[in-house]
Amino acid sequence: MNEDTEHQTSHIFGIRYMTENFIQGILDDASEIKQNPSKYAEALKGKILSLAFWEASTRTRLSFESAMLRLGGKTLGFSSQAGTSIEKGESLSDTITMLAGYSDCIVLRHPLRGSCKLAAKIADKYGVPVISGGSGSQEHPTQALLDIFTIQEYHHRLSGLNVGIVGDLRYSRTISSLLFALGKFGRNTIYYLSHPSLHLQDELVYDLESTDLEMHKATNLAEIISSLDVLYVTRLQKERFPDPMLYNKVKESYQLRPDLMKAAKEDLIIMHPLPRVDEIPYAIDRFPQAKYFEQAKNGVYTRMAVLNRLIH
Ligand code: NCD
Repeated sequence: MNEDTEHQTSHIFGIRYMTENFIQGILDDASEIKQNPSKYAEALKGKILSLAFWEASTRTRLSFESAMLRLGGKTLGFSSQAGTSIEKGESLSDTITMLAGYSDCIVLRHPLRGSCKLAAKIADKYGVPVISGGSGSQEHPTQALLDIFTIQEYHHRLSGLNVGIVGDLRYSRTISSLLFALGKFGRNTIYYLSHPSLHLQDELVYDLESTDLEMHKATNLAEIISSLDVLYVTRLQKERFPDPMLYNKVKESYQLRPDLMKAAKEDLIIMHPLPRVDEIPYAIDRFPQAKYFEQAKNGVYTRMAVLNRLIH
């Protein structure tokens, strides 16, 4: 639950605003739902979820849809601006006002910073919760929930872990949410590895200083892989890259080559929010440590838990 007192309804903007208790509650619910899905088949019968996606998405949109359907509810929405009145110039606030009248909860993906807070302020008047499905390069809270659910499932703990984060640390919203989530569960050691132009944003590093995370800069994967419990790889966010020349120059650095796996621990888990591009070759899929598809599937259970808590 967000600690933003401005709103009476519960909204989900970012992991940084959630209490540890609320997060743990979602993880517990998700694990109960994963074990007994049929028990929840009618939990949200008669309810409607809006999926308002201004940006491309496969997993977030479809796993929210699957989650709502598995809870007995229904969905409506759009997956791009094409074919909607946004193309005619309709504002975010007018679109949200309308969706608040059509549905019981809104999942919003939008490229602009602050978009989710604005939407929540509007939907709040109608008692309709808003959930961020990813806002700009800022936060992707439900992705972080499914990420830590997956980590807990394999490692049975969320502290004392050595976590490698690799790829585009500057523009990846999944990375910032994951770090805030891990920062809430005690001491974890983070080894971060990226091209210098894609390092963590200064603002994020500053905000993380109040957590117990121990941050170490790594220079290559070979140097860290043997000590890792979790390796979290991200693609380069081409659409947020200011310079296409630079994108082409760095896109193949930081690839997880199969030969690097010789040094990996048996219980290492390799994660990726997906979609992958070049950073995890298909040859890695046959290693037992590859968990990214299980991680994506966990998105359904985690989002079922979130919807079940927020929609009344
Ligand atoms: C991520 C996103 O949209 O931020 N994808 C996802 O939701 N699973 C990661 C990405 O696009 O690279």
